[in-house]
Amino acid sequence: MSAFDALKQNSLSFKLLPISIRELFFLQETPCDIFGMSDGLYKLILRERSYINSQVLKDLIARNHSIVFVHQEKRSQLMELQQNNLRTVTRSLSIGDPIEKGRKQLGLLTLNMSYLYEDPTNDETLKLQLQSVKNLGSFLYERPEIHEKLYHDYLKQKHHFIFAQPLLSSLFLVGILKLSHIYSYKEVESLFVTSYFKDIGMSVIPTEKYDQQNLTEEERSLLSSHPKTSVQILQGRIQLSPAHFGIMENHHLFSLLKKDLHVPDTSKLDEKSAKMISGFETMIISVTDVIAAMITPRPYREATSLFDALELSKILISDDYPGEFKLIVNYFKSMFFKK
Ligand SMILES: [Fe+2]
Repeated sequence: MSAFDALKQNSLSFKLLPISIRELFFLQETPCDIFGMSDGLYKLILRERSYINSQVLKDLIARNHSIVFVHQEKRSQLMELQQNNLRTVTRSLSIGDPIEKGRKQLGLLTLNMSYLYEDPTNDETLKLQLQSVKNLGSFLYERPEIHEKLYHDYLKQKHHFIFAQPLLSSLFLVGILKLSHIYSYKEVESLFVTSYFKDIGMSVIPTEKYDQQNLTEEERSLLSSHPKTSVQILQGRIQLSPAHFGIMENHHLFSLLKKDLHVPDTSKLDEKSAKMISGFETMIISVTDVIAAMITPRPYREATSLFDALELSKILISDDYPGEFKLIVNYFKSMFFKK
């Protein structure tokens, strides 16, 4: 490399910001120059206003460009563009092909969730997220027949599990609550919002930390208090009743977490706290969280089968909630094992 090239690389390292390539999904052209890293060097891989579609992005991922780089000052423009995209899809969610619209809404919502984790105090980002989540809740409630397809399509988007987890558990929650016929839509909406935002307190730790299994004591303690932090972040900013904030604060009903935040340690199930009696709403939000976590992989472990996840749910709740356990099994049977 010439001295001039070395200088150019050095200058780029100060100016460029790494972002996930998922930030470019659902765009028709690149809003700015996109750089990649090959052999330790920055290279321009897509010029501003280059045509992009999912195939172009998939090819880049296959060439090890899951992380790309943009000029720092362009990042906020990119965020604004994607947030406007989310606004547009949210407003027109019930118009057009529901699968196509749902897939796009889930992707953009998850992207905005990552923006919210970067800056949980941003009121505009939170407001947009809340409105989009409410519309999504109603959209999913009306269309249980597309949950399975959306679930599989969403997994293919391969979002970071930190942002995907609350969405998956809340998707299951809506389906189960609808099947129960106990709640009005308004009640389901509040529970959906509670479930979706319950982990926002996890934003206190940088996302990449979640890929490691070994966290420091301080990080562990920050993580174990995330339900409380979620409430602190949201109280006074989103409209939920004290009862719903109570559910949020107690959503790790079964998790005697040590290794995997969302999956209970079965060796400790005899301990009293693992079988704490609670209201149906807290229990169902907690169980859907456990199931969603178990059946999806983590960087440090494989996914568990749905059968095993239901077996564990049986141990957790079937003594206290036999009818509700059957309801959960019926939901997953109708969603995943359709004849
Ligand atoms: Fe949580």
